[in-house]
Amino acid sequence: MRFIGIAAFLAGVPVAVLGFLAAMGWASFWPALAGIAVCIAASGAFALVWAHDLDLLTDAVRLVASDERPPGHRSEGPVLMEALGREVDRISRRLATRTALQEQHRRADTLILERLPDPVLVLARDRTIRRTNAAARLAFGEEKAAVLRHPAIRGAIDKAMATKQSQTAEISLPAPVQRDIYATIVPMDPPLADGGEILVVLSDRTRERVIEHMRADFVANVSHELRTPLASLIGFIETLRGPAADDPPAQQRFLEIMAEQGARMNRLIDDLLSLSRIELNEHQVPSEPLDLKRLLDRIVAGYEPRLKDRNVELALRIEAGLPILSGDADQMAQVLQNLLDNGLKYGRDGGTLTLTAAVATPGKIWPSRRGVVVSVADQGSGIPKEHLPRLTERFYRVDKGRSRAVGGTGLGLAIVKHIVNRHRGHLLIESEIGKGTTVSVWLPVVQS
Ligand SMILES: Nc1ncnc2c1ncn2[C@@H]1O[C@H](COP(=O)(O)OP(=O)(O)OP(=O)(O)O)[C@@H](O)[C@H]1O
Ligand SMILES: [Mg+2]
Repeated sequence: MRFIGIAAFLAGVPVAVLGFLAAMGWASFWPALAGIAVCIAASGAFALVWAHDLDLLTDAVRLVASDERPPGHRSEGPVLMEALGREVDRISRRLATRTALQEQHRRADTLILERLPDPVLVLARDRTIRRTNAAARLAFGEEKAAVLRHPAIRGAIDKAMATKQSQTAEISLPAPVQRDIYATIVPMDPPLADGGEILVVLSDRTRERVIEHMRADFVANVSHELRTPLASLIGFIETLRGPAADDPPAQQRFLEIMAEQGARMNRLIDDLLSLSRIELNEHQVPSEPLDLKRLLDRIVAGYEPRLKDRNVELALRIEAGLPILSGDADQMAQVLQNLLDNGLKYGRDGGTLTLTAAVATPGKIWPSRRGVVVSVADQGSGIPKEHLPRLTERFYRVDKGRSRAVGGTGLGLAIVKHIVNRHRGHLLIESEIGKGTTVSVWLPVVQS
């Protein structure tokens, strides 16, 4: 059709003029007829080439517009419109480069978002989730909707959309475990490539909150622990100055209690300083050689008088040929003393305290690496299960009164835990009510 149209358009006027001249007799019939024939043939041929070129270029432009043109494709064939064909090729190449660049940016955006350490949710204008990153999927799983339903977050999103300014909100998620979340809502203008208009960045602040609480608790605990002996000292000083001023036997008794309270405060401060020193170099694994057998012998010898006082028998099960460990002898002595002290304090008078040291059996309880286990088992009344996970917290005591009565500061096992951590070891406390408690320490054997 296009071919006939073009041919008719080209040949129409000359054929009509020649026809008219022939009809009027102003031109001889045969030459006019020959002219008409030449005109029709020439315009037919021309129209054929033109229509072919137009078809080719139309197809090329259609492919470019629909993004289906293979990269580097060149328009071949236009005869009369070759220059136009070259321009179409050029436009096609530029569009392809630009599309590739856009795709690269989009992928970079996705990757940045995906790898961000904080959980991020991307929302569309209607608040539906468009995308989430790996951290969000890991931290919130199926709870994303619950987070977005939280009134504080919804309010912040509304405000961010209305003001086009970032907003923040703090929320607390009760289930499955209590979590404190700090949310930052960032409106995206212009929107992201995937249509996301709101970024919700969620940072988990639970750990910071817990540390804050622990710090506050620690200060309160230390003050409380110091206040009790201090109040007693002040009370006795008052008494010595007043009512007991002329009562030497009472003075002797009071001075004895005062000395005890002073020693208690001293112990508490020593333990606190010791704990902070251990924490300070907890990241440095000790590298000096440690002969565990010799250390155990030395410590056990020092315990003889106290064992006699409590009528406790110490059973030693020290395996022969224990490997040399690497460790800090003073700190390991502190660990063993704390465990033996506890065994003596909370064990049964007249019972047996068992000190075991052996090469660890790798498996369920202990790591598969080579190690040595030292444990102290007593025959005391045991510790209820619910207390076991908290025993290594500072100042945590199962029975406050009993611990204080035997002069405990509640820091012993906290010190043990930090020393064991520094040695990259493991601590295990097992207890059975009515039967006794076993505290074991696993220490790695460093291959030389
Ligand atoms: N062998 C044990 N048997 C029963 N209870 C124990 C035993 N070891 C520890 N506990 C409990 O764990 C608590 C914490 O022990 P930890 O050694 O940290 O403190 P402490 O013995 O009270 O004081 P410190 O060791 O500083 O003198 C103790 O108060 C006690 O209630
Ligand atoms: Mg103790």
